[in-house]
Order: sequence, then C-alpha cells, then structure tokens
Amino acid sequence: MTTTTHPVPERPRLTVIGTGYLGATHAVAMASLGYDVLGLDVDQAKVDKLTAGEVPFFEPGLPELLKEVIASGRLRFTTSFDEAAEFGDVHFICVGTPQAHGSHAANLTYVESAFAEIASRVTRPALLVGKSTVPVGTAARLTSMVRAAASDPSLVELAWNPEFLREGYAVQDTLRPDRLVFGVESAWAEAMLRAAFAPILDVGTPLVIADLPTSELVKVAANSFLATKISYINAMAEVCEATGADVNVLASALAYDDRIGGRFLKPGLGFGGGCLPKDIRAFAHRAEELGVGQAVAFLHEVDEINNRRRKRTVDLVRELASGNLAGVRIAALGAAFKPNSDDIRDAPALDVADMLRAEGADVIVYDPEAMENAKRVYPQLSYAPTFAECVKGADVVVLLTEWQKFREADPEMMGELVARRAIVDGRHALDADAYRAAGWEYRALGRPAQPHTVHLIEDTKDQVLV
Ligand code: UGA
Repeated sequence: MTTTTHPVPERPRLTVIGTGYLGATHAVAMASLGYDVLGLDVDQAKVDKLTAGEVPFFEPGLPELLKEVIASGRLRFTTSFDEAAEFGDVHFICVGTPQAHGSHAANLTYVESAFAEIASRVTRPALLVGKSTVPVGTAARLTSMVRAAASDPSLVELAWNPEFLREGYAVQDTLRPDRLVFGVESAWAEAMLRAAFAPILDVGTPLVIADLPTSELVKVAANSFLATKISYINAMAEVCEATGADVNVLASALAYDDRIGGRFLKPGLGFGGGCLPKDIRAFAHRAEELGVGQAVAFLHEVDEINNRRRKRTVDLVRELASGNLAGVRIAALGAAFKPNSDDIRDAPALDVADMLRAEGADVIVYDPEAMENAKRVYPQLSYAPTFAECVKGADVVVLLTEWQKFREADPEMMGELVARRAIVDGRHALDADAYRAAGWEYRALGRPAQPHTVHLIEDTKDQVLV
C-alpha cells in the first residue's frame, strides 16, 4: 500500500461518469442515501432526459427514485468534465466496455477517455473509482495513465469497485448488495470508499478489501461462474433430451443440495444480455493473452452450450409444426433478454424469432417493454401491439421471455385465440399440467414430450417484479 495522506471528508461529494444502466442507477441510489451527486454523460440528450426526471431505459423503481432525488436537490446532471472535476471528491467511472468489433476483447476506449478527462482536470485530492467491467490488468495500466494525465499526480489515486447489479433489480441490488468489493492501493483510498458507502456498510453489508487485479477479477469470475451454472444445467437438459429424463425434476433435486443451490440453475433458452455473453468471451480472450487460456477454455463450451439452446428451441417449434416452418404462423412471446427489462442486447428471444423467420415462418413478436428497441434492431420481424393480437391465429406459440403477464395467462382463454393449441415453453415458466388439461400440446427443452408441472424453487431475490 502507498501512503497517500489527504483528508477524508465525512460525506464525500460524488460524481458518476457515464449514465447508462450502471451509472444512472448508481447516481440515483447514492443520492437517495443522502450524498450530493453529479452525474456526467457526454450524450446531451441523455443528460436532458435524466434532468427532466426521465429514465432512458426500463428499470422498475428507478423513475420514482430519480424524481425524488432530483426534487431533493441532491442529484444533478452535466456534460462538463470541468464541472465534475471541480465538484467531486470521489469520481465513479461507469462507462460501457462493449465487445470490440471483430474480436472477443473488450473495447476500453470509453473507460480510458473518462479516466483521462477527469484526471487531467483535478485540482484537489480525488479518488477515481472504476466500476466498469474490465479485463484484469486494466486498472494498473490506467493508474500510470492517470498519473501522467494529472497536473499534480499526488492529488489523484485510482481504485476499483466492481458492480454486481442485475437489470430489473438494479435499485435493490445497489442499495442492498450481497457484498462490496474495494480494490485499493492505500489506506486513504479505502477510507474514502468507506465514507462513500457508509450507509450500506453500516447495515452490515460484507466488505472485501482487495488489490486492484483481484477486484477486477472478482467481477468477471462472478459472471463466468453464473454463466457456467446456467450452461451446466442446460448441458444436463441436452442429456435429458437423449434419455427421456426431465431436466426440471433434475434441477429441483440438485437445488435442494445447499452446496449447489437453485439460483441460476434454471434451465431453458439460456443467457443473453449486455454482460454474461460478452464477459465470458472477454475473459477467455484476456486469459489467452496472459498465457493461461487453458484455465478458462471451458468458457468456450459454456458459450457453445448456450447457443445450442437457441437452435434447439427452433427445433422444438419446427417439430410442433410437423417438420416444416414455411408459412407457419408463430406467436413469439418476449423480446427482452429477460423479464423486467427492455434490453435486447444478445437477446435469445429475438435470435430465436429471427431464426424461425429465416426458415420461412410467419413470426409475430410481442414484448411488454422491449418493442421499440426490438423494432429498431430487428426491423425484419413483425410485431403485434398486444399480447392477444400476437397469439391470435397462431399455429405455434413460443414463450421466449418469462414476463409475469405470460406466466399468468389463462391457457383456456389463450386457446380460444390461437389456430392450434401448441406451445413451446422456452423458459420453463408455464404450468405444463394446466396447458395439457386445456388441450395444448406442450413442449419444453430438456423435458419429455408429456411432462408434468414442476415448481422450481424460487429465491425471493429472483422473483419477477413486473
Ligand atoms: C448479470 C449478473 O447477474 C450481475 O450480477 C452483473 O452485475 C451484470 O450481469 C453485469 O455484469 O452488469 P444481468 O445481465 O442483468 O446481470 O442479467 P442476469 O439476471 O444475470 O441474467 C442473465 C441471463 O441469464 C438472462 O438472459 C436470463 O434469462 C438468464 N438466466 C438466468 C437463465 O437462463 N437461467 C437462470 O437460472 C438465470
């Protein structure tokens, strides 16, 4: 540890650089805890929206909290790095690290530029805290860069504070995280972060103090583990399909073992979104650069298993359509990568819908929140304005995102609307017995042709909110 000895304000002023999912939620949550927060984004339109109290994406609970903290005067937004440098004691860097074009590596240009912009303007002691997901070793490189960019390098220090929030649960995950991780290089940096998270630490949230590389690794290791857990149960689904076994019964039996646990052991169409898929690829890429590619070679298989589930879902729909999808009217329920979100990045739902379309099916998509995003990125698909319009006249219904609205649908009432009572439950979210009782042909990945309802144990933290 180094010996930075600047004062530590009791309640540091915070800036949040980058107001996407992570940054906007972090800024709002910290302001709700009583901190004075300045959010910065280079996108003027985003800043204007947030200033007007509008959240530019769908996240339950966030719009209400944003309005509250704006009214309290504790949260403002700007596009000016000068203003941010002048304002903040602790600067949280929350910009995106998308997958680079033509490579599995993470694109770090936004992170590098955010750190450089702030560092070059700092005129008083400031802690620059990375929250973005980055390849291990980035923080060490940024430390040298920040020192070189600062007019007085003794004023700035860098720390890492990985974020584990899930979309759809962003507010609760930020205010009541399972743990906090501080990657720090001095006692001052640790004290600054303790002051910045005091209300969360005061309620007993576990804190792990780490060095910079460990703190970077915690994030990718956690996401890789979660992706592996999902692909593990989906690999078991493939074995079940070859043997007539039922993956839902298998998953519930495994879940009773505390050492395994039932969370993220839900079989089905697999994972998507802006994090899990890109993070496992970037991690494998980074491990290869470091000469330890073999250690995480299994992540390629995790990715493959995940992609095979999408193809297998298409197979099931084709089977229900008697082997040929040409001209078959399909109701695709869901577009978002998971419920409670309008995010369609690497969404399994839209991938499947598009594969069905490519085989000549007449696919109509409906999602309660993600329609605008889906239409923009998948203009080749057709969309229905309502759930009822989507299923009307369908030869096969396929559930792709398990919104509560779809889970609660009455099989009898839905049966009145469709042309044929045939359904593929891509998310194992429906009551198989109820559908069969209402005369539906019900199919699900990794389950026998005539499965019974199995209620997977659900943790309250994972319950669908909307
Ligand atoms: C994920 C992690 O869960 C967060 O901890 C992390 O902070 C975040 O990435 C990030 O890196 O920013 P998120 O992408 O919001 O969060 O979504 P998850 O809830 O992890 O779901 C990912 C995908 O896995 C979804 O498509 C979901 O449908 C699928 N999934 C999840 C399953 O197929 N089975 C399960 O049992 C659980």
